[in-house]
Amino acid sequence: MTIEAEKQAAAEAALAYIPENGVIGVGTGSTVNYFIDALARIKHQIEGAVSSSEASTKRLKSHGIPVYDFNGIGQLPIYVDGADQINSIKQLIKGGGGALTREKVLAYNAEKFICIADKSKTQGLFGSFPLPIEVIPMARSSVARQLVTLGGNPVYRESFTTDNGNIILDLHNLTIEHPIKLEQTINNIPGVVCNGLFAQRNADVILLGNP
Ligand code: 5RP
Repeated sequence: MTIEAEKQAAAEAALAYIPENGVIGVGTGSTVNYFIDALARIKHQIEGAVSSSEASTKRLKSHGIPVYDFNGIGQLPIYVDGADQINSIKQLIKGGGGALTREKVLAYNAEKFICIADKSKTQGLFGSFPLPIEVIPMARSSVARQLVTLGGNPVYRESFTTDNGNIILDLHNLTIEHPIKLEQTINNIPGVVCNGLFAQRNADVILLGNP
């Protein structure tokens, strides 16, 4: 089974969790793209979606799925998204596609957070995928200096601006001993908008594509 087939299988499996008539949360990335394409087949079952990125919004709309402003929506019954790394207690590293802040907002406001991924996302030491951190542009250097004191090596993601107009620092070589504490510590650095550790709000269900 190829990685693409694993992603697609995980995405298809998420359809079983879609409630009738609700507005569902949709994440971002290549695995989610398979999910959006699958969702199109049952679009009449849902009222519509809220989306974590301009890219997913565009894809949802191209299938004729209504996309709502999240400000007008309350609690989501489910949120479906991918991940860059997954540990044994369903905590995630996300943000490889740079959409981490909107993703975290939707995950926090969902009754059920369903993570869809290929098997490779469960491999390697948690933290071996560089941790994405969204930062306001004027604080890039000061935040980077603070991140160095945490033992990591921040790398500026070149030629990339988030949907919120900010930059991303990818934190390499990080040892993550206490994910929840580290998530809070990084969020407390002035200038940080959000970091890609989904530890306080971890996933409820992991759907992994495998043979
Ligand atoms: C985007 C994300 C994605 O969920 C993550 O990068 C996984 O992407 P893919 O499904 O393409 O492997 O967090 O910000």
